Amino acid sequence: MSQDLDSIVDAARQSFAQAATPAQLEDAKAQYIGKSGCITELMKGLATLSVEEKKTRGAAINQAKQAVEEALTQRRRALADAELEQQLQAEALDVTLPGRVREPGGLHPVSLTLERIEQIFASMGFDVADGPEIESDWHSFTSLNNPPNHPARSMQDTFYVDIQGEDGIAYNLRPHTSPMQVRYAHAHIKRHAAALKAGDLPEIRVIAPGRTYRVDSDATHSPMFHQCEGLWLGKNVSFKDLKVVFTDFCRTFFESDDLALRFRPSFFPFTEPSAEIDIQFQSGPLAGRWLEVAGSGQVHPKVVSNMGLDPEQYIGFAFGMGPDRLTMLRYGVNDLRLFFDGDIRFLRQYR
Ligand code: FA5
Ligand code: MG
Repeated sequence: MSQDLDSIVDAARQSFAQAATPAQLEDAKAQYIGKSGCITELMKGLATLSVEEKKTRGAAINQAKQAVEEALTQRRRALADAELEQQLQAEALDVTLPGRVREPGGLHPVSLTLERIEQIFASMGFDVADGPEIESDWHSFTSLNNPPNHPARSMQDTFYVDIQGEDGIAYNLRPHTSPMQVRYAHAHIKRHAAALKAGDLPEIRVIAPGRTYRVDSDATHSPMFHQCEGLWLGKNVSFKDLKVVFTDFCRTFFESDDLALRFRPSFFPFTEPSAEIDIQFQSGPLAGRWLEVAGSGQVHPKVVSNMGLDPEQYIGFAFGMGPDRLTMLRYGVNDLRLFFDGDIRFLRQYR
């Protein structure tokens, strides 16, 4: 190969080596073996030479062209390898990293309390019922001897829903589980219609736990909270039975016989007489203090009528307790809002 061809091949190798990307490489290629690259131009120049010269010069130019093409192929491969390497590195998977563990979940502390309440009352022969959270005015108030415009309605600051009931009064987010008293009684009577006719209606014994809502918010009041209603109704159910059942429940729930109960006279439109139920621990951090856990009382004759039963024949008691408060007392938590903030560090303590 003549000297000019050698230096062309050298220059091509150099500029290919300098090309950092496939596009730059293709540009460099054009300068040598493209349509008007310098080697292509030399080929065109052969036309002016004699046959003998054409042979030797032509062969030399071809050799140079092959050398350039080989350098080009090598560089193309090198650039492609580099790109692949980079891509592999970018998508690298470190198989030695520890896996992401998905821990098993657990029940919310209030759910644990509700489960406990259901178990204890089920063991005493109570049915467990569920009812709607969006409730009619009649069920939440009027059926419970709390008619429109009665001052007792202001005991609860209620959320109303933008849906009108048949009576023209807006539906509400139930402020207590007490509407379940009449709802459940109606279902019970329907189920046992024949027995009722025969004067032999099985006793109503039910609890109805669930979510309730009020315009309330502080360390012991949440706008959404839980209640659990209890109802025991029959021909011979007395306040004494309420005391026995509720005392038994509290002692089982708190796993302590060292627990005092107090039935403090109170007022609810749907019970007469009415009592708040307070408990007192005899030992532990809360010892000596009376703590309110429920409202209760003998079911008011008007409510018994609204159930579709004769208040001269049927009598019983009802109570409504706050499972959130019971959870606070059981676990020694002093701010109710912690239960509903959803902070996993707090909640995972109770699994
Ligand atoms: C009632 O709601 C009555 N329906 C209870 C009742 C039922 C009485 C049957 C008689 C017969 P009261 O408003 O006191 O009563 O609420 C009962 C319990 O719910 C309270 O003792 C308390 O533990 C809980 N509670 C009330 N408001 C809230 C709130 N905003 N946050 C958390 N717990 C609450
Ligand atoms: Mg109360």
